[in-house]
Amino acid sequence: MTVDTMTIRQPDDWHVHLRDGDMLRTVAPFTARQFARAIVMPNLVPPVTSVEAARGYRARIVAAAGSGFTPLMTCYLTDQTDPDALAHGFEEGVWAAAKLYPAGATTNSASGVTDIRNIMPALERMQRIGMVLCVHGEVTDPEVDVFDREAVFIERFLEPLTQVLPEFKIVFEHITTAEAAQFVRDSGPQIGATVTPQHLIINRNALFAGGLRPHTYCLPVAKRERHRLAVRAAATSGSPKFFLGTDSAPHAREAKESSCGCAGIFNAPFALESYATVFEEEGALDRFEAFASVNGANFYGLPLNEGAVTLGRSEHRIDDEIAGLVPFHAGETLKWKVAGLS
Ligand code: NCD
Ligand code: ZN
Repeated sequence: MTVDTMTIRQPDDWHVHLRDGDMLRTVAPFTARQFARAIVMPNLVPPVTSVEAARGYRARIVAAAGSGFTPLMTCYLTDQTDPDALAHGFEEGVWAAAKLYPAGATTNSASGVTDIRNIMPALERMQRIGMVLCVHGEVTDPEVDVFDREAVFIERFLEPLTQVLPEFKIVFEHITTAEAAQFVRDSGPQIGATVTPQHLIINRNALFAGGLRPHTYCLPVAKRERHRLAVRAAATSGSPKFFLGTDSAPHAREAKESSCGCAGIFNAPFALESYATVFEEEGALDRFEAFASVNGANFYGLPLNEGAVTLGRSEHRIDDEIAGLVPFHAGETLKWKVAGLS
């Protein structure tokens, strides 16, 4: 039986880049149109490392997104992160989580952590106070093939970290491989993962479809088809460990279409529609609400949203450009459309 409309509890986005300044004002409304809350990535220039910076950024997001949207702030971990200041910011309710970027792994990660041993006191403190760690799970070792960096990160860092800190709540962000899906599935309930629309929909062939396609490039980069299928199976399995995190990461068109193009896919305009299409294709629409609106909140220990969002079946072509940016699915037709919030 096919359904023509579905109403689910209002979802949250557990991983998004909202940027700052004009870009923030451009992109925030797309996220706020669908999501009640979002875990906001701190990789601004300079990165968001202090409570004062987070307070200011949060206020600018609220101004850009309008009422009804709650940004959840994350602390960008560096080699210098002070465990006391971090814990204080968490206890004050400023930080929802902290973000670990291995230095050099991705956009604006130069100030990230150069050696995980440098932040062990901060990580131990986080475990003790129940503060979530969001991890960009890729090694930066240039000897490791770009397509293997996530799988190698599990062996070298994640597995050992979970041995040393067995109660530590960790979100393995934007998983892209069968190895990551399996690691999360086989771990205890303290390990979760976010999944993006693009890693459910494209494999690495999309990067080279008829020529170089910069708008399909993000980090972690899309992998082989067998990995896409494994990530899809995990996300639609009904397991509470997997939840929605778009990793919407807008860059100006010139920054993408360049001799050294930036990593990041701007998927915010139709994120929920993208995910709904995947769940329908997998015959898993009955599990969509848990993935989008329940599992993440439960993992973070936050209340579920009260509102609802309705999606309707309606074929619509995605514009080639939205607000001057090239969106995910540009020029394609999607089958679902957000009809409204209630
Ligand atoms: C992100 C960005 O542009 O900030 N890019 C991306 O490809 N996802 C950084 C990140 O999350 O890795
Ligand atoms: Zn990201």
